[in-house]
Amino acid sequence: MKIFIDSADIAEIKDAVAMGCIDGVTTNPSLIAKTGRSLEKVIRDICEVVDGPISAEVLATDAEGIVREGKILAAIHPNIVVKVPLIAEGIRAVRTLSSAGINTNVTLCFSAPQALLAAKAGATYISPFLGRIDDIGGDGLELISQIVTIYNNYGYETEVLAASIRHPVHLLRCAEMGADVATIPYKVILQLLKHPLTDLGLAQFLEDAKKIPG
Ligand code: G3P
Repeated sequence: MKIFIDSADIAEIKDAVAMGCIDGVTTNPSLIAKTGRSLEKVIRDICEVVDGPISAEVLATDAEGIVREGKILAAIHPNIVVKVPLIAEGIRAVRTLSSAGINTNVTLCFSAPQALLAAKAGATYISPFLGRIDDIGGDGLELISQIVTIYNNYGYETEVLAASIRHPVHLLRCAEMGADVATIPYKVILQLLKHPLTDLGLAQFLEDAKKIPG
């Protein structure tokens, strides 16, 4: 399973990359806005620290504009994946971008039929937002399961990129179901490492080590 960090914070990204478990990065306009810097500058900086797919989102909502912006973003670096909203104009643009050899990440996916159409349009990744479905009383993990099943049934190459992951159990279940990628906020990456028995065990080992002669 590939793990991406869902962040536009360079310090966080560097720290996660140093742990050696990060395969790529996803960003969105909300994450970029928090940095107070331009999208292009942030994306260029991320490209310097991560050698893997880096999703950068278009702001246009018409197919022509999405393709235009997508080509500009893709020209920044070969690792750029153009993030496109899951609307009719977006799906149309994905077909054009993928025919031009540009990788796409179709975002804001909240249903399996949406994911099916994104795969048919040639999306490289589909991003179902499972946490946001849970937020309104739905079952985000069920959506991941449906998409994995449908893609497997028909052999679609689009990768399932589980997004809006809020806690370690989300990741665990996505891995069990066979999601190709999970994009995770830095805070949750740190939570994945934590176990009280690890901390207790280490403290005990270090204490006992003091009794070792020599
Ligand atoms: O980047 C897309 C997605 O991961 C956003 O997550 O927590 O804002 O629902 P969240």
